[in-house]
Amino acid sequence: MDIADHERERPTSRREVLLARLEASELFDRADAAVPRLQRLIGSGRMADLLTGRPLGHPTHPVAILAPMSCFVGASVVDVVGGRAGRTVARRLTGLGLVTSLPALASGAADWTTTDGAERRVGTAHAALNATALWLFARSSARRGRGAGLRGALLGLAGNTVLGAAGYLGGHLAYRRGVGVDTTAFLAGPTAWEPLAPVADLAIDQPVRVEHDGVPFVAVRRPGGAIAVLEDRCTHRGGPLHDGELVDDCIRCPWHGATFDLTTGAVVAGPATAPAPSYEVRVEQSMVEIRRNEPSTLRVNPARAAS
Ligand code: FES
Repeated sequence: MDIADHERERPTSRREVLLARLEASELFDRADAAVPRLQRLIGSGRMADLLTGRPLGHPTHPVAILAPMSCFVGASVVDVVGGRAGRTVARRLTGLGLVTSLPALASGAADWTTTDGAERRVGTAHAALNATALWLFARSSARRGRGAGLRGALLGLAGNTVLGAAGYLGGHLAYRRGVGVDTTAFLAGPTAWEPLAPVADLAIDQPVRVEHDGVPFVAVRRPGGAIAVLEDRCTHRGGPLHDGELVDDCIRCPWHGATFDLTTGAVVAGPATAPAPSYEVRVEQSMVEIRRNEPSTLRVNPARAAS
């Protein structure tokens, strides 16, 4: 996203102006050089799945930050209410926070490598603030270890303040920019049988993009004649699945390699965590028809349904 895009968004407050400047700041692009190395380090196996969240069905990072945040905030609370007797507890909590921050760092880094543009810049600022907070906590821990309880407590308080700012940017990434959100969360296909495309338009093993009522689908006709239909938006960052590669009974996203079972939409390989919405398929008078038993109210977009 360039500066012109931000101007078009017309920031409505000082906070929005600051966020827009951050998102447009090319200063943060210097961190991009670390992406290939991190991606090699993370790989694509079980460790990558654990870091990105495939076993959970959503990103690991929001879960992984719970332990260190609880410890760091807990240490500051004990500093305030625990008096001298609480100093040992606060020191131990700070140490535990530092140790448990490792999975949080690793899962955040894994998510960051598959962002781009404005989202990556905010992610870089988020990481820089977290690194600063950890440095303050490490100093706090060292001071506490040397018996300088007050200095350690103040450093811990400073760390928590910076951690709060990092958390604010994390919230912006997730709730405003949708990083980590299932990108099909607000798409909704038909819940009753509706025609999608003539069977004749589907060549064997050639993923085809078909749009229906504003929702993109990818349809694949298999060699035995079976037809599979998924929404044509990778649940990870929105990659176009119809440009992907067929691998056995799956389709692999062209952007970061997430692989979905063609029939069920299940994630067979990350970094996607949410399954691709799949549809029941039948053929009526040479037309492919689809429907889906839609469990989510959010996906039934009221604005689109009313238009
Ligand atoms: S968009 Fe990232 S794997 Fe599809």
